[in-house]
Amino acid sequence: MQIAIGCDHGGFPLKAPTVEIIKSLGHSVLDQGAMQYDAKDDYPDFALAVARAVQSGQAQKGIIICGSGVGACVAANKIHGVRASICHDTYSAGQGVEHDDMNVLCLGARIVGTAVAADLVRAFVQAKFTGEERHRRRLEKVIEAEKEG
Ligand code: RB5
Repeated sequence: MQIAIGCDHGGFPLKAPTVEIIKSLGHSVLDQGAMQYDAKDDYPDFALAVARAVQSGQAQKGIIICGSGVGACVAANKIHGVRASICHDTYSAGQGVEHDDMNVLCLGARIVGTAVAADLVRAFVQAKFTGEERHRRRLEKVIEAEKEG
């Protein structure tokens, strides 16, 4: 699958290691920046680029890294069809996909190091939505709420 990735200056140190993990799992990367460290860049620019790539289907999943993961998550969830969450534990990173069809993982590079981030990315990338009736029913309610605005 194609996985979109983006980060601001807070997430920049974790971006290259994350790209390597994605590639090592056999997936391709759609790099939405930042392409270099810029202490003055703004997380919404990268978070929204990743979210729009997922919304359009250009990428099947997305990963956004900022300092805490919070700003990235808030911004990404403004885009219809995007279900983004911060997961700093592997249970949530996998279960968020399996039960909730989470399609964007947000990480805080000031919170987790490269080894933990690698485990989180593996759990997220390898998980699949189970499609079980109860999860579909709940997801439909979320999608309906999104339509209502
Ligand atoms: C940038 O300094 C920082 O505020 C940003 O990366 C992120 O943590 C916001 O949630």
